[in-house]
Amino acid sequence: MTDTAPTINPYDAYRHLRKTMPVSKLGDGPWQVARHKDVNTVLKDHQTYSSEVQLNPIKGQTPSMLFSDPPIHQRLRKLVSRAFKPSHIEQQRQQITHSCRELVQQMINKPEVDLVDHLAAPLPVMVIAKMLGVEDGNMQIFKDWSDAIFSNIGDILFATPSPEAASAADEMDHYFLDKIAFIRTHPQSHLLGRLIETETEQGFLSNDELLGFCRLLLIAGNETTTGLITAAARVFHTFPETLSQLKLKPALTPTFIEEALRFYSPFSATVRRTTTDVEIAGQIIPKGDLVLPLIASANRDESIFTQADQFDIERKPNPHLAFGFGIHFCLGAHLARLEGEIAVQCLAQNFSSIRLTDSESPEMYGLGGPKVLKVQLQQH
Ligand code: HEM
Repeated sequence: MTDTAPTINPYDAYRHLRKTMPVSKLGDGPWQVARHKDVNTVLKDHQTYSSEVQLNPIKGQTPSMLFSDPPIHQRLRKLVSRAFKPSHIEQQRQQITHSCRELVQQMINKPEVDLVDHLAAPLPVMVIAKMLGVEDGNMQIFKDWSDAIFSNIGDILFATPSPEAASAADEMDHYFLDKIAFIRTHPQSHLLGRLIETETEQGFLSNDELLGFCRLLLIAGNETTTGLITAAARVFHTFPETLSQLKLKPALTPTFIEEALRFYSPFSATVRRTTTDVEIAGQIIPKGDLVLPLIASANRDESIFTQADQFDIERKPNPHLAFGFGIHFCLGAHLARLEGEIAVQCLAQNFSSIRLTDSESPEMYGLGGPKVLKVQLQQH
């Protein structure tokens, strides 16, 4: 007998839940919802399933849009949504392609690399730093802050954050407060600069509101996009023909990305709190309980997706829930898709084979991607 627990394939576990316990309680903890139809219901009904989940909101700190309900949610989302519209995002294509090519260039002629370190982590952090006008900052430090906070998100919301997460949050706040102070006297046209100049019915945005946006965007956009790029590599490993298909027919890239999001959903679950007693799939959930809609399980639901455990590069329609659904639908979805498409195309153009050296499945309830993903690369 070994002292390490056997690894459970999350997709087997999700299948079991969908089949036998579509809505079940995780010990004394939250309820988990496994079927596509029910996950969709939870995400759509923001009145019954509130996003205000935090137990002890930090006094004086504006909640982020992700963890707020209307009308606060609408106000916050409207302030930044313009910058994330497809036409605005499309303007970044050239810059993202340039950054991606430079990163991939560093991988050429190396027989084995850590894909996270070389591409999947730096690309998203560079993109969001540019949008916020902090591209002159230290990308590794941004990444470290984002990692420390993201990997402690459960404790931050429901318990006491680790000293590591608290000090990362402090450092990040100080950095952005200095930036904000500078931009107030030196106006700039990037997203943060425009937010600083925005006047709402309640006047200009406070430092705390501005910090809230910086925190959310830096964190929400990083780990998840890293997860999409590593998901693509996992697909290339498991279904090697997909890499040659993309090479021969680049027009398949958009459907490849949607299918990768479905197949290895980087944001595998989110969280809500019930505002009333509610029945779902025959189960009563009491008011005030936490609910986890299992997005990664919904995306493998065989009643919605034919051959759900097969990767279909041309799958259409593909009603996956990887970016959520309803009022909290991912604000960065266009940006994530663009980054994913550019990264996948760069990989397909430069390599004939991408093999994982350690092909463990993603974790159940996992958010974002792995910290390390060693791959062996073969050029033409
Ligand atoms: C593949 C990459 C990504 C995935 C899979 C993803 C997934 C998601 C999901 C599932 C939600 C909804 C959560 C919920 O309903 O509780 C969400 C919300 C959000 N995402 Fe993303 N995301 C990605 C990339 C990005 C990027 C690049 C950005 C911005 C830079 C971003 C910014 C946001 C924001 C601001 C929200 C909150 C929206 C709201 O509450 O109205 N995401 N994302």
